[in-house]
Amino acid sequence: MKDRFFDQEWKRSSYCGNIPAAAEEGVEVTLNGWLRRRRDLGGIIFIELWDHTGTVQVVFAPEMGSLYEQAKGLRNEFVLAIKGRVRKRPPGTENPAMATGDREVLAEDFIVLSPSRPLPFEMSEADGVDENLRLRSRYLDLRRGPMQDNLRLRSRAAEFTRSFLAGEGFIEVETPMLTKSTPEGARDYLVPARVTPGRFFALPQSPQIFKQILMVGGIDRYYQIVKCFRDEDLRADRQPEFTQIDVEMSFITEEDIMALMEGLMKGLFQSVLGECLEVPFPVLSWHEAIDRFGSDRPDLRIEGELLNLDECFRGCPCEAFRKTLEEGGVARGLRVPSGASLSRKEMSDLEARARDLGASGLAFFTLREGALKGPLVKYLSGGAQALLVERTGLGEGDALAVAAGPWKKTCEMLGQLRLELGARFFPRREGAWHFLWVNGFPLLEWDDEELRWTAVHHPFTSPNLQDLEKLEADPGGVRSRAYDLVLNGAEIGGGSIRIHEPSLQRRVFEVMGFTPERARERFGFLIDALASGTPPHGGIAIGFDRLVMFLAGAHSIRDVIAFPKTQKAQCLMSGAPNNVDPGQLAELHISLVPNRKDPGCSSGDGE
Ligand code: AMO
Repeated sequence: MKDRFFDQEWKRSSYCGNIPAAAEEGVEVTLNGWLRRRRDLGGIIFIELWDHTGTVQVVFAPEMGSLYEQAKGLRNEFVLAIKGRVRKRPPGTENPAMATGDREVLAEDFIVLSPSRPLPFEMSEADGVDENLRLRSRYLDLRRGPMQDNLRLRSRAAEFTRSFLAGEGFIEVETPMLTKSTPEGARDYLVPARVTPGRFFALPQSPQIFKQILMVGGIDRYYQIVKCFRDEDLRADRQPEFTQIDVEMSFITEEDIMALMEGLMKGLFQSVLGECLEVPFPVLSWHEAIDRFGSDRPDLRIEGELLNLDECFRGCPCEAFRKTLEEGGVARGLRVPSGASLSRKEMSDLEARARDLGASGLAFFTLREGALKGPLVKYLSGGAQALLVERTGLGEGDALAVAAGPWKKTCEMLGQLRLELGARFFPRREGAWHFLWVNGFPLLEWDDEELRWTAVHHPFTSPNLQDLEKLEADPGGVRSRAYDLVLNGAEIGGGSIRIHEPSLQRRVFEVMGFTPERARERFGFLIDALASGTPPHGGIAIGFDRLVMFLAGAHSIRDVIAFPKTQKAQCLMSGAPNNVDPGQLAELHISLVPNRKDPGCSSGDGE
């Protein structure tokens, strides 16, 4: 009798998915894994034993004596070590759906390494189980094929990234997780500093300042696959803690970063998916992206662009159009192929949607039996109608959605309708992966709440040097040297050439409304570093979770993160965030202000 505890003797000789071929009948194997399914036919017991490589059928027969009796007590998700012999399945009992379906293992001995409680859901049906239930028992969810595949793919993508960047002369440097709070953009997660009462660290929103300082430190080429933390309103493709492939290089220009990232993407898609990307990726200026697609992250899978209809409506007697154009607004349209099939109700729903999106209205034209129809037709002369049809390429049965208003708002509204109508009306461009670069973003945007100019990317982004003269006079008209990497309508990365002269950095802080004292208090260490011999430098960060989501064909970034948070930034498995012991708070010199919405939050009691 062998030892009845796990030792070398019980270690697997092969994984469940790789057991010797049926032809090698009689080969002795030792298997380790989870009991996935059990069928007791009252004279013979079949189980499926699972590990991450697959499943194999194991047969327990009465000849095993007392072990057979013991096998009757096995339940789903028990962890077992089994010894037995491979044999061909009897003809007619093969299972072609299983990779090992032509063979089975006739058990000779086994030990239970760990039993399992009754589970909150059946593993075999887990694909359809509510996500919150899966997140609560993530350890079980991780035993599902799709999660296994996603995490293994994620690991391969990280491994490729590291070796690619090392090959390009980059070194991985870790930057601190306990950093200085410099809120700009999202809110910081704060960490109380016990030994300096009343002070706080912040978890990094990104290693931005540190990677720039590494360039001042002569590191030259830095990368890090790094956790970032942002306390912001969560959307489907956002997590409060997420991972970036963070990169910074010295003595380079935009082209160098873009070429490097194109090489990384091409290599990743080739090595992980075996797919060949065409590089270089197209580049669109921010202005062109908004004007043609109504978005700074256009989805180029969808055919169809916005149309400039200023000329068609300039002399139009329709008050709304004429006035808007006279006051510097624009007229833009979206041709909807076969859109004349939209019902009256659908059109009015789209008008309501346009208003929700901030437009003052939306008008439809259709072309039916060669005639232009729609409420605005009466304002257009025969010539103007012909011009409209010609400019828009409107064909029989098509519809044209038209709106007038401020340029950005109007384009963005039509851009959103383009996405929403996309699957139903617009042809798809060939190819699965539509990458592009968007550059030439505005450097600053006016914040109506804070009543000051704020950075569109971050305050360390260099202005386009051609626009420097207008930095103070027309801050909104200054373009930046930032670039975003867009894939299939999602922003998967963003970066810029940085300001490397302290005087320019001071000017930008000033335009953003920081007094010199405030700028020094917050960013003094950066300004001092910049004044200490700084190479021109720039970089980028790729949202690793988003990228892996695409590579894995997953629908949510939660599906490519081992332990994600919910939309409410909670970990359902561990129950974080949780109340802490009053003693812990006292030690940190923290007292809580009662929260009227959730009085429990201020008590400091445990769960
Ligand atoms: P940025 O803020 O654009 O740039 O972030 C870079 C990329 O990170 C991803 N990302 C996120 N992914 C998941 N959840 C989130 N909450 C989240 N927020 C951002 C996006 C985004 O494109 N320091 C700069 C980079 C630089 O300038 O080099 C930065 O962090 O895919």
